[in-house]
Amino acid sequence: MLVCHCRGISDRQIRRAVKNGCSSAREVARETGAGMRCGGCRSNVKAVVNEALASELAKSAPGETMLEMALPVEG
Ligand code: FES
Repeated sequence: MLVCHCRGISDRQIRRAVKNGCSSAREVARETGAGMRCGGCRSNVKAVVNEALASELAKSAPGETMLEMALPVEG
């Protein structure tokens, strides 16, 4: 799905950028150019980045849910 029409950047390209180490919409913009022209796609770029970051986080800690990771560990 095309996310940034100005630059022709798809959600797959954004996900790939996150997989390759980008950790924010700003970093993805620098890497891919998404959102760097008219800016009309920035909220969609952020949504895809956040979704991709959550997915990468879940892969790195498959036994824990997002809620468990957010809760403080009590000893
Ligand atoms: S649609 Fe992405 S910068 Fe214009």
